[in-house]
Amino acid sequence: MKGKHIVIGITGSIAAYKACTLVRLFVKAGAEVQVVMTPSAKEFVTPLTLATLSRHGVVSEFFDRRDGSWHSHVDLGTWADLMLIAPASASTLAKMARGIADNMLLTTYLSMKAPVMVAPAMDLDMYAHPATQENLLTLRRRGVGIIEPGEGELASALVGKGRMEEPEEIFRRAADFFRTAEAAPAPAPSRGRLLITAGPTHEYIDPVRYIGNCSTGKMGFALAEAAAAAGFDVELVSGPTALATRHRAIHRTDVVSAQEMWEASQRIFPQCRAAICCAAVADFTPATAFGSKMKRETTGEWQLTLRPTTDIARELGRMKRADQVLAGFALETDHELDHAADKLQRKNLDFIVLNSLRDAGAGFGHDTNKVDIISSDGTRQSFPLKTKAEVAQDIIRHLCELCE
Ligand code: C5P
Repeated sequence: MKGKHIVIGITGSIAAYKACTLVRLFVKAGAEVQVVMTPSAKEFVTPLTLATLSRHGVVSEFFDRRDGSWHSHVDLGTWADLMLIAPASASTLAKMARGIADNMLLTTYLSMKAPVMVAPAMDLDMYAHPATQENLLTLRRRGVGIIEPGEGELASALVGKGRMEEPEEIFRRAADFFRTAEAAPAPAPSRGRLLITAGPTHEYIDPVRYIGNCSTGKMGFALAEAAAAAGFDVELVSGPTALATRHRAIHRTDVVSAQEMWEASQRIFPQCRAAICCAAVADFTPATAFGSKMKRETTGEWQLTLRPTTDIARELGRMKRADQVLAGFALETDHELDHAADKLQRKNLDFIVLNSLRDAGAGFGHDTNKVDIISSDGTRQSFPLKTKAEVAQDIIRHLCELCE
């Protein structure tokens, strides 16, 4: 905590008196504290008390009434290592969720570059109200840390959830935050954007039926996680799958058909350093999609006319600039090496990942895969059966070497 810059925001709540203890805890631990109060907070605790405890003038107005000097919320936003709003009233939480900037604390919050934590304090009904709960959810989704209020006797003499967490516990949570942040590995330097296509595509025949395949998207999603961990900004274009992404550096575009996947890939690829075509794109799509469900009773026997879809890998191969790297996959049942080498050349790929359906544990749906990486210079690397996460790491390592 020593030397850390903490902005402590105080709002109009009876729990504001506890903020005095909180400020003392931070100052005693060697942090520098800047208090920012809302106008109504000053009804509960005086700026003089907080200025004395924090050893800094308290900021509450946009400018100093005595000499007109401007208090810069933007400067506070870059100065702070952490902003902690304790107590956070229902009103301030609502304004934070909406982006309303009608006092110094809120403008400071909106310009804040550092992480923000809030310790709500209010009556139990206000806390339980769907409006407050929705606002808290919005803030949580945006990454604001919520220090949940405890249960106990409230200022209204009612008993329930809404009582601000004790200052010692809030301080401990802030200290934990710094400990975790410092223990986290430094993010890898950015390697630029990487397009990955993943999953199957669904080609609709009528509103309820489609032509698809058995791809689950596991290999493509494992590649996206491994690439993001290696420092790529991943653009994942995924067909229908039940999978979720975890890493923050993965930006996902969900598509359904081969045509949609092609349109998204074509748009994204020019801004990328590299692309890996991992999707099991349907090779054919119905020439006409019927607007209503085909009925057995009325239609009887009918023929479906299919037309080929765009070969995304091949088109990206045509678009590829000298500074870009392109990789693809080949899933083969026979003459694996010949077919893979042919695809590598036909699609203008820099390398192709071959998995054979003959290998047990490789291919669709499995959590494992066994691959060979064949490069455009004719070299071939064979890997043993591994988990898809490990295979993804091998492939991304190979890609990184080409992107050096
Ligand atoms: O020709 P084949 O479908 O076997 O080639 C597989 C490779 O081509 C994979 O990398 C796959 O993602 C890509 N592909 C594609 N668009 C298609 C068909 C395949 O990008 N329509």
